[in-house]
Amino acid sequence: MIEKIAIRESVPGDVASFEKLYRDAFPDEDLLPLVRELQGEGPAVVSLVAIADKALVGHVAFTTCGIVGSAKKVALLGPLAVAPARQRQGIGSLIVREGLRWLKNADMNQVYVLGDPAYYSRFGFEPEDRVTPPYQLPQEWRGAWQSLDLGNDKQPLHGMLSVPPPWRKRALWTS
Ligand SMILES: CC(C)(COP(=O)(O)OP(=O)(O)OC[C@H]1O[C@@H](n2cnc3c(N)ncnc32)[C@H](O)[C@@H]1OP(=O)(O)O)[C@@H](O)C(=O)NCCC(=O)NCCS
Repeated sequence: MIEKIAIRESVPGDVASFEKLYRDAFPDEDLLPLVRELQGEGPAVVSLVAIADKALVGHVAFTTCGIVGSAKKVALLGPLAVAPARQRQGIGSLIVREGLRWLKNADMNQVYVLGDPAYYSRFGFEPEDRVTPPYQLPQEWRGAWQSLDLGNDKQPLHGMLSVPPPWRKRALWTS
């Protein structure tokens, strides 16, 4: 039988499940402060969770950002996590694709991500060099900065990504 995965927006009561999810999925990295802060950003953040057998097994957040000197609406994808026991079952792809659909309907122009191109290329993300991240990336991470055009605007974007406070921590971009 094909298992049903439900996707919904996160709610304040999900925070306890996020603690376990992020500790398990990222044993060497503490993304919980970022996850908690993003939950407090209101409608500027689209935060989706995947539920299987009543358990929260995946999470992704998309933060509305700007480009310095431009009025275009863009978003930043992250963080993204799937419970280790449920990885490689399509859950990550499901919630990312659902989030991208929301952003397209919200007239976003582009989505940015700092992540492994081997994973994000499946959604159409490509290396980005016209819009720069808010902090200079280590040389070895340059290829991890990617963007996806959502097709809402044909004009190419240029400039520096401007991010809200939860993302204004150098360590998120440099270590
Ligand atoms: C990355 C992650 C979110 C993917 O979620 P998922 O539900 O396992 O992914 P899907 O089932 O949709 O896709 C699985 C595919 O992604 C690949 N994949 C999984 N993690 C990957 C990674 N870190 N880098 C590259 N490819 C990855 C798998 O090899 C698999 O490839 P295949 O389809 O060719 O077999 C999940 O594995 C995870 O939480 N990992 C630990 C945290 C992490 O590294 N997050 C950062 C993402 S860059």
